[in-house]
Amino acid sequence: MSDILARPVRFGSNSGQPVTRRDGIAKVTGAAVFAADNAPEKLLYAVYVPATIARGRVVHLDTDAAKAHPGVTLVMTPQNRPALQGDPSEKPTMFSFRVEVLQDDTVRYAGQPIALVVGKTLEAATEGARLLKPRYTADPARTALDDNESFGFEPEGFGLPAGAEHGDVEAGHAAADKSVDVIYETASQYHNPMETHAVVAAWEGDRLTLDMPSQALAMSCAGYAFFFGIPAENVTLRSPYLGGGFGSKAIPTGPQVLAILAARETARPVKLMLTRQQMFGPVGHRGATRQRLRLGIGAKGALTVIDHEGVAETSTFDDFVEPAANASQGLYAAQALRSTHRAVRLDVGTPGPMRAPGEASGSAALECAMDELAEAAGIDPLEFRLLNYAETEPGTGKPYSSKALRDCYLQGAKRFGWAGRPLQSGQMRDENGLLTGWGMGTALFPCPMFAAEATATLRADGTALVETSAADMGQGAWTALAQIAADSLGVPLDRLEFRAGDSRLPDGGVAGGSGHTATAGNALHAAGSDVIAQLGQIAAEDKDSPLHGAGNARFVARDGRIHVEGDETRSEALADIFARAGKAEVTGNGSAARPPEAAEKHAMHSHGAVFAEVKVDPELCQMRVTRLVGAFAAGRIINPRLAESQLMGGMIWGISFALHEEAKFDRRSGRVMNADFAGYHVPVNADVAGLEVITVHEDDPYVNALGIKGVGEIGITGTVGAIANAIWHATGRRIRRFPIRIEDLLNA
Ligand code: MOS
Repeated sequence: MSDILARPVRFGSNSGQPVTRRDGIAKVTGAAVFAADNAPEKLLYAVYVPATIARGRVVHLDTDAAKAHPGVTLVMTPQNRPALQGDPSEKPTMFSFRVEVLQDDTVRYAGQPIALVVGKTLEAATEGARLLKPRYTADPARTALDDNESFGFEPEGFGLPAGAEHGDVEAGHAAADKSVDVIYETASQYHNPMETHAVVAAWEGDRLTLDMPSQALAMSCAGYAFFFGIPAENVTLRSPYLGGGFGSKAIPTGPQVLAILAARETARPVKLMLTRQQMFGPVGHRGATRQRLRLGIGAKGALTVIDHEGVAETSTFDDFVEPAANASQGLYAAQALRSTHRAVRLDVGTPGPMRAPGEASGSAALECAMDELAEAAGIDPLEFRLLNYAETEPGTGKPYSSKALRDCYLQGAKRFGWAGRPLQSGQMRDENGLLTGWGMGTALFPCPMFAAEATATLRADGTALVETSAADMGQGAWTALAQIAADSLGVPLDRLEFRAGDSRLPDGGVAGGSGHTATAGNALHAAGSDVIAQLGQIAAEDKDSPLHGAGNARFVARDGRIHVEGDETRSEALADIFARAGKAEVTGNGSAARPPEAAEKHAMHSHGAVFAEVKVDPELCQMRVTRLVGAFAAGRIINPRLAESQLMGGMIWGISFALHEEAKFDRRSGRVMNADFAGYHVPVNADVAGLEVITVHEDDPYVNALGIKGVGEIGITGTVGAIANAIWHATGRRIRRFPIRIEDLLNA
């Protein structure tokens, strides 16, 4: 592996091309089959019954009425819920949280299951669920950070160091010539992929087949196998398409466990699909945060301290704490750094990873605080960031594996036209009299890799087949991955068949942490390289081959030929090698994971810079983001079209975070009041005006053999701060709570 890392991998002609999605036509024509499209013989339909209070007990369910319905097959409640073989309070896999599966009649959050009703039709099950008419005893619900006094508990969840400290923080405060001490708040947000959580579960003896969207097929199989006491290989999970995941589809969830249990109990296949409203609770969310930032600078503008304290919500029965303050560990050079996290227990479902977990919320606050400090110092915000540019990772002192952030700043600023921006706020108006402001923020996201395996088969007729299980979440992974595989085998893309989205294939790892292309891509590349090495060896041992005697060389494939690496004069057509060897095909295996020593030596992040223009109506305080320019450096870009689309998606989420998205709780019932797309606002086309993405060239010899980082999540970071800073620049008002609403400006 270290050998590979030391040399840049040479690539064929597929990578780097803006190929359109290979699954595009299937999706737009409706040919793509999503989990809930499956309808096996004898299918039963499950309806999930959520608690409508947030804290208390269920004292009565009219199960007799529900059971009496002629179309109802099963009414599952805590009274009759069949035993699970695995303890539901355990977390069987990475990223898991405790599943709620009708363990008792206690209600811990609104949206928790209190029953599952199964019927011969969806209508019958829905009617059965309605007949349950639950009665509760309810206690006052605590759904806001201020509702629970027990601040100060230090979480251990999500691999969080509760705090990290570097340098002498008190000395950093004391040395500050100018400082800011500000509190920023972020709202709770819920995952809303277009496809809600779904499963079609079917048992055959102790073998389980699941049609279910999953960001992590092997991990999902292991998780469900644990709860049902069967070996993981007894679970077949088919997940050819996902209508989005955003972090919520990587783990076993309670609703899905219950549906699988119902299938076992009824000995029939059972389908469950959550409604939009039911997404608000049992399948994770981004918890609200309150973050205090104390930043100081010396006389020349260099940061003496970044002191970032995060408080975040978790549920009463499990720990997941948004690691927001971690965002301050990787970015700006400061004499001293401290980040701490505290958790508050609330009567809400357990939060979980949601699109740029930690960094999205943390960088929103950090980038605004940096802007406030730049204002206090009278320095241009971009210049201020360049002044505090870190050449090594501040929190660890490690060198970066690569960091083309300076280029991002410069290219982004140039495209945006940042030069000439007035330093003061309230200076610009457009031709219609709208207040106009420009703001910026730095984007940062780590680039992890998971472990993955793949196989590749090259055939004598020049066609190829590659296999790895990981699903395409809609991000275009299968297209980019196919480009990598085709290049490693030296075949055109249209000769390559790509099989994925099924747990029976080699484990493609986790499509999460923005690491899918790096993870599965390197495994596929290794599998393809194995095939080419085998064929090269066959040729090297063959007297009639131009490659004869090249046994110790490395071989690369390009345009249907095998070349001796570094000696362009020596090559042979793949078809000739196959023909003389009398073989129909050659299969190779590959795997990928980041060696721990590589991760030890370098800090690994994707970087970027986002510039925003907003216009604000001076009377109505309506805000519009009129232009966004993001420049990102994320290592090797395999498919610029899809990468830009991912980065754009992230930036649109940034608009959402800054101006739209917020789950609002009814303080009396503890329920989310706006649990649908009418009330839970996300940007529509009219909210997204000019949006431009620049991908900045970056070679990274350390992250993995292919030099791929990640582009999925970073677009949110940087964007939120850039928008808020632009609103300040337009209006002179600092709004320290997200999302920023019209009334915040009216009342400011
Ligand atoms: Mo993510 S939170 O890895 O979609």
